[in-house]
Amino acid sequence: MQSCWSCPSNIALVKYWGKREGQLPLNPSLSFSLKEARTTTRVVVHQKSTGSHVFLFEGKPSIFSERIENYLCALKDEIPWISRYAFHIESTNTFPHSAGIASSASAFGALALCLADLDRQFGETSDDQFYQRASQLARMGSGSAARSVYPGFSWWGYSPALQGSSDEYAIPVNGKIFPGYSQLRDAVLLVDSAKKSVSSSAGHQLMENHPYRDKRIEQANVHAEELLRIMQTGRYDEFFQLVEQEAFSLHALMMSSVPPYLLLKPNSIRIIEKIRDFRNQSHLPVGLTIDAGPNIHLLYLSENRDAIQRFIETELLSLTENRAWLDDRIGDGPVKVE
Ligand code: PMV
Repeated sequence: MQSCWSCPSNIALVKYWGKREGQLPLNPSLSFSLKEARTTTRVVVHQKSTGSHVFLFEGKPSIFSERIENYLCALKDEIPWISRYAFHIESTNTFPHSAGIASSASAFGALALCLADLDRQFGETSDDQFYQRASQLARMGSGSAARSVYPGFSWWGYSPALQGSSDEYAIPVNGKIFPGYSQLRDAVLLVDSAKKSVSSSAGHQLMENHPYRDKRIEQANVHAEELLRIMQTGRYDEFFQLVEQEAFSLHALMMSSVPPYLLLKPNSIRIIEKIRDFRNQSHLPVGLTIDAGPNIHLLYLSENRDAIQRFIETELLSLTENRAWLDDRIGDGPVKVE
């Protein structure tokens, strides 16, 4: 039996940072799925007697083998048939693995979609439950992956403000969002491709005893609720202001943790300042967000693409590593590959 899925990465607008036992989030998060940055994964399972697990990334034995092995092992209670089968897993990414952008969301999203699909073939998951099940399984590999299994905008984490929200899985929220946001584009300005000085799992752990832990949980809850309310309208200035505040909060938490981490580079700050100056001068609806790394995600609307491309080429590329950037946008979610 086999299954193959292509799954996008996603970028958080309200950030998940910190988790509880069972890979449950300390706070709700809100993101959108990208279109171009994707992982395609094929999983073939055979009865165990025929061999052990094989994991190939871009056709070669993978450095993620141990993490995937641990993931499958952790899912044995959740998916009992896992213990009876040997897995052959092959993955490819559309974006360079070393580009310094997070790939765990698309990687675990694609793998979880395959597992949920196989679970469906074994008669354990119904069509109605499919995406929720995939999101729940993805979460157990990487929290942010829970949000990658849907098109457009997703919300992960319980909030009294959103009916149906859960810490166990993400839910799609496209129906609540002003249609203008379907034009969102994300230019990822690659400032530094070096390995991050703190992995996101170590980063989440730093929140356990963080001096601002409780305040952050409160802030993220308010921000998630407020952002969803703002996104019911086309008030883009409020949208970009809140999204930027979230990105800076994430980095402020890292800078104030024990030990402290500084992930932004001088050119990250220069790019942030350029984007703010450009917005002040052009009055165009543009803004930025940042993941747990030095790269800057410039967010804007398709209708302004020409002006933004000119801005990127003339002002920003000299500040990126080897003039590298990824031209992405909001996407239609995962696709089953035959
Ligand atoms: O899914 P993880 O464990 O790699 O954590 C992702 C954390 C952030 O990317 C910084 C924020 C988010 O919500 O995606």
